[in-house]
Amino acid sequence: MLIAHISDSHIAGFGEKAYGVAPTAENLSLCVNHINRLRPQPDCVLVTGDITFDGLMEEVQRTSAILKKLNYPFYVVPGNHDDRATLFSEFSKNHCPANNENFINYVIEDYEIRLIGMDSTIPDAPGGEICTQQAQWLETRLADQPEQPTIIFMHHPPVNCGVLETDEDGFKGTKRLGDIIAKYANIERILCGHIHLEAHIKWCETIVSTAPSMGLQLNLDLTLKKPSQFYVDSPGYQLHFYHQEKHLISHTVYVKDRNGPYLF
Ligand SMILES: [Fe+2]
Ligand SMILES: [Fe+2]
Repeated sequence: MLIAHISDSHIAGFGEKAYGVAPTAENLSLCVNHINRLRPQPDCVLVTGDITFDGLMEEVQRTSAILKKLNYPFYVVPGNHDDRATLFSEFSKNHCPANNENFINYVIEDYEIRLIGMDSTIPDAPGGEICTQQAQWLETRLADQPEQPTIIFMHHPPVNCGVLETDEDGFKGTKRLGDIIAKYANIERILCGHIHLEAHIKWCETIVSTAPSMGLQLNLDLTLKKPSQFYVDSPGYQLHFYHQEKHLISHTVYVKDRNGPYLF
């Protein structure tokens, strides 16, 4: 099984750039085209939030028009820059199959790896949360299939990554979630976004992996000095390949002009 993982497109209104400088819609189109040309083909694409710049319907529709050019099923969860209601109204059923916009949590059972999407957002706050109700929901779902390889995908990393976006924004319910995660050895990975940077963190007997953004990449500064800054750079996404020997391998792909390929 092959999963492509896109995050943090931050798409502004038609004709606009994110923060006035980052062509994130064009970058998302580049990644969609790149993913469509991959061989082997991915089975599906996960989109881990901050899909829009400000949660506006125009922004959701602009993003949706690009994502719907993917040749594969794709699934979205919201980030702190999104609005649950606009996101759900555009993507529900096929791409966000939750019961309602107030509880965007769902399970995709169609693949060798079980996919659990969770809404880690807190309205009008930059940080994340998994509340008691969500934690109970997750534990019930995990208990349904404790042997099947599983990926959880959500916007916020539930653990500090050594950058302001986690260590300052915060995450409510880290222990609540971690206590559940640690009980299930079948959780191959927790896939996130939010920090606009590739990172991998061992946490609660699994690995949290974050994807880069659609060209709005974090200026890595481990001093945690404010303010947080970004570079306008090449867009990147991740590929998670479930090997026939039953281990998940993750690669980060940057879509940019390169010199090559040459023979080794
Ligand atoms: Fe973001
Ligand atoms: Fe975010």
